[in-house]
Amino acid sequence: MILNEGMLKEGALKGKNILITGGGTGLGRSMGEYFLELGANLIITSRKLDVLNATAEEMMKEKGGKVLPLACDVREIDQVEKMWEDATKEFGQIHVVLNNAAGNFISPTERLSTNAFNTVLDIVLKGTSQVTLTAGKDWIAKKQNGTFLNIVTTYAWTGSGYVVPSAAAKAGVLAMTRSLAVEWAKYGIRSNAIAPGPFPTEGAWSRLLPGDLVKKFDPAKKVPVGRVGEHQELANLAAYLVSDFSSFVNGEVMTIDGGEWLKGAGEFNNLDQIPQEMWDMLEVSRGKKA
Ligand code: HXC
Ligand code: NAP
Repeated sequence: MILNEGMLKEGALKGKNILITGGGTGLGRSMGEYFLELGANLIITSRKLDVLNATAEEMMKEKGGKVLPLACDVREIDQVEKMWEDATKEFGQIHVVLNNAAGNFISPTERLSTNAFNTVLDIVLKGTSQVTLTAGKDWIAKKQNGTFLNIVTTYAWTGSGYVVPSAAAKAGVLAMTRSLAVEWAKYGIRSNAIAPGPFPTEGAWSRLLPGDLVKKFDPAKKVPVGRVGEHQELANLAAYLVSDFSSFVNGEVMTIDGGEWLKGAGEFNNLDQIPQEMWDMLEVSRGKKA
């Protein structure tokens, strides 16, 4: 099994300037590191400039290329526009926007304050739409091609209890991805999404499996292939979707979850709890010789 090897050929992203929201930590950082390896330059943004600075320095030391860290709260349109302006000034043209920033936590919905609900909606849906609109308007005005890749989750279409603001916001991002894939294709702008299953990160695990929950709800147990994802596996898919090799892929959401969401959906999937001896008995009872 190849879990930790880069998939695309050397230089596959050469000449591409890629903006990653939430690029200082977790999956954003892992995808960014692989993009750099493939020859891209990066702009990484989030709220915490100290984190971004440290990440940018480490990335350039380990992978080469150029990484520009810019503080930007995606909820604030002034900050988004300033970030885009600064990034464009530095790089001339930005070719790809990876909408990866998110906020999330678990809670029974009836316990959420209005502000708690809105906070997640604002980061995920409003934040993504503000970055998308800022980039898209600029690309269209300048007649530049562009590529959006939006990170959603599988509960964007199934919904999920206990993360309702996140589910509602990710569903909105998915609808926006598919809508703009059609509307903006005429401008040479592609929009796709990735729906990851469980990929361990400090940010997600600390908020979705706090305290002892991680021992009680081992995420790997819900996945048919029996494990969680490796960051490189996601990075390989993301690199393909932002590269020119995927130029005929538009409006797609690619699931990378080891079959997790389908396991929950299939009516009889829980029959894998039936032991072989019981299947043997059932065969005998319908007349097949043991
Ligand atoms: C209930 C909570 C809460 C919690 C915060 N709030 N945490 N309510 N349960 N665990 C409430 C607060 O009380 C407050 O409401 C409101 O939410 C805003 O909280 P702040 O702390 O002021 O907000 P802020 O500093 O902006 O931080 C945003 C955040 C935080 C979302 C709350 O967790 C964050 O910074 N997250 C960023 C990174 C992240 O979440 N990464 C994980 C993504 S994982 P009141 O009413 O008191 O003012 C992911 C995976 C999906 O998306 C799929 C996995 C398979
Ligand atoms: P993470 O490390 O916590 O990433 C979230 C990033 O978003 C952080 O870098 C954070 O940086 C940034 N961010 C949060 N609020 C922001 C704001 N208002 N403005 C700008 N940036 C903000 O968690 P992760 O697991 O890597 O998640 C990355 C993406 O993958 C998210 O979209 C998440 O929904 C998705 N995802 C993750 C999993 C998983 O299993 N890990 C599964 C499905 C989907 P600052 O705090 O510095 O702002």
